[in-house]
Amino acid sequence: MTPELIIIHHQAQTHVAHIQLNRPKELNALSLQLLQELRDALTALDGDDSVRAIVLSGNDKAFAAGADIKQMAGRTAIDMYNIDQFATWDAIKKIKKPVIAAVSGFALGGGCELAMLCDMIVASETARFGQPEIKIGVMPGAGGTQRLTRAVGKALAMEMVLTGRFITAEEALKAGLVNRVTPLELYLSEAFRLAAAVAEMSPLAVKMAKESVLKAFDSTLEEGLHFERKNFYLLFASDDQKEGMQAFLEKRPPVFSGK
Ligand code: CAA
Repeated sequence: MTPELIIIHHQAQTHVAHIQLNRPKELNALSLQLLQELRDALTALDGDDSVRAIVLSGNDKAFAAGADIKQMAGRTAIDMYNIDQFATWDAIKKIKKPVIAAVSGFALGGGCELAMLCDMIVASETARFGQPEIKIGVMPGAGGTQRLTRAVGKALAMEMVLTGRFITAEEALKAGLVNRVTPLELYLSEAFRLAAAVAEMSPLAVKMAKESVLKAFDSTLEEGLHFERKNFYLLFASDDQKEGMQAFLEKRPPVFSGK
């Protein structure tokens, strides 16, 4: 089915795909339909060998202003349990290819959580990050209390989650939440540049490296080191390892096949 609330572009030359959230009137509020379309698009791109990195953006005014409050307002706890809107997030979390968020304007609530679910964040100087759920009588439910705390530390996470204060792109950069901040007109091209740089590497090594970095968040150091070592050894089964090392010895650029 053709998606209605997202737009998918594919840059064949650079092996980079782009998903744009497209509910501009609602500031890209994350309705169930939007999340399902996003999950399906990411899953399809994850399985497409011609794609090596994915950029996820909204528009200049909003990356996403959070879960759809209009859709949630009248629900009971049992509705929430049955609908289980965060199940789509579990699928998004499993995407193996690198996903780079290009954030401009509001990244709030679920929008901030979605950006944090991505592997890197490029922000425009107009970006505003926040977990304002506390202002509407709830709290973050899609990872905000966990990923934000790991990214920016307890002091700032606690302040953002308990007061709902938005932070600027510069503050997010200083706190380690985003990779870089650009002028408004450059955030998308910078995200593509970063994605294209990753897409030049061995896709297999990139996937295993991503998996290994993420392992650091839910393992002890020993477990993480063990996991990393296994992936490192495993890459010696790939053509890309042979090609990468041979190209280095022959002083030429490598041509990675992803095998
Ligand atoms: N859900 C549904 N609709 C939303 C929305 C949301 N999260 N955010 C904005 N909208 C809608 C507004 O209702 C408005 O629609 P109408 O024109 O039909 O009234 C439209 O988008 C434009 O919004 P505003 O007029 O409010 O625009 P603004 O520039 O004055 O303010 C804003 C922008 C500060 C982002 C403000 O819209 C706002 O505070 N939004 C809600 C942010 C929020 O609380 N997010 C957390 C949601 S809960 C959550 O995400 C739970 C979770 O952990 C997953």
